[in-house]
Amino acid sequence: MSHTVITIAQQKGGAGKTTVAAHLAVALSQRGKRVAVIDIDPQGSLTQWHKIREERFGKGYTGMNFSALSGWRVANEISRLRKESDFIIIDSPPHTEADAKTAIREADLVLLPVQPSPTDLWATAATLKLAKDEKKLVKVLLNRVSPNSKMAQAAVDTLGGDDVLDNMLGNRVAFAAALFEGRTANETNPSHVAAQEVKDIANEILALLNLDEQEEEKPKAKKKKA
Ligand SMILES: Nc1ncnc2c1ncn2[C@@H]1O[C@H](COP(=O)(O)OP(=O)(O)OP(=O)(O)O)[C@@H](O)[C@H]1O
Ligand SMILES: [Mg+2]
Repeated sequence: MSHTVITIAQQKGGAGKTTVAAHLAVALSQRGKRVAVIDIDPQGSLTQWHKIREERFGKGYTGMNFSALSGWRVANEISRLRKESDFIIIDSPPHTEADAKTAIREADLVLLPVQPSPTDLWATAATLKLAKDEKKLVKVLLNRVSPNSKMAQAAVDTLGGDDVLDNMLGNRVAFAAALFEGRTANETNPSHVAAQEVKDIANEILALLNLDEQEEEKPKAKKKKA
């Protein structure tokens, strides 16, 4: 499969959608993939990040085709970009509004970032159901996982292991600090554990989509215990 649409969705605000969208877009672009990013969130956080990126590092540096839009344009833009991109990453707003539903309907993979806490997990059920009702491949990405916390395993137990990516993101300032600069943790400090976590997630997603055959690195199988 190519021309893959990955929609980052989660009705819970502040779960990490924008952070994941930026990091995944850059990680895939660093793997030589043609990446398009669409910000359909009226808050425009990813748009702001991309603006800083272009201003500071120039258009050539961004490594991705970026658009911000809403309404009927969303589906049109996705079908246009499918022709010229290997991956289309969509950052969606909190609350499953019409545009978020369109982005889920158009997705080949729906990624749901969630912080491993009971209230965040409960709030995830609706988005998970929506994606499943649309018969989408959907995976929960555990985000802001604290070291030595039992919460990640509790989340896996609650959601069921099949719905959760093996790799997860820790609770690390490096992710936010990098976005401030219009970059990602993979760029600000490629040897930092944050960068490795993102790489592992990108690898796992490529494997999940059967797109990893030409890649050297294989996804790292991690124990699901935090
Ligand atoms: N893995 C992480 N480690 C530390 N901080 C994180 C991590 N992921 C996200 N954050 C922080 O959590 C906050 C919310 O993240 P983000 O904006 O990506 O969430 P969101 O789901 O896009 O929010 P919204 O629903 O408002 O669009 C931000 O301050 C971000 O820097
Ligand atoms: Mg956001």
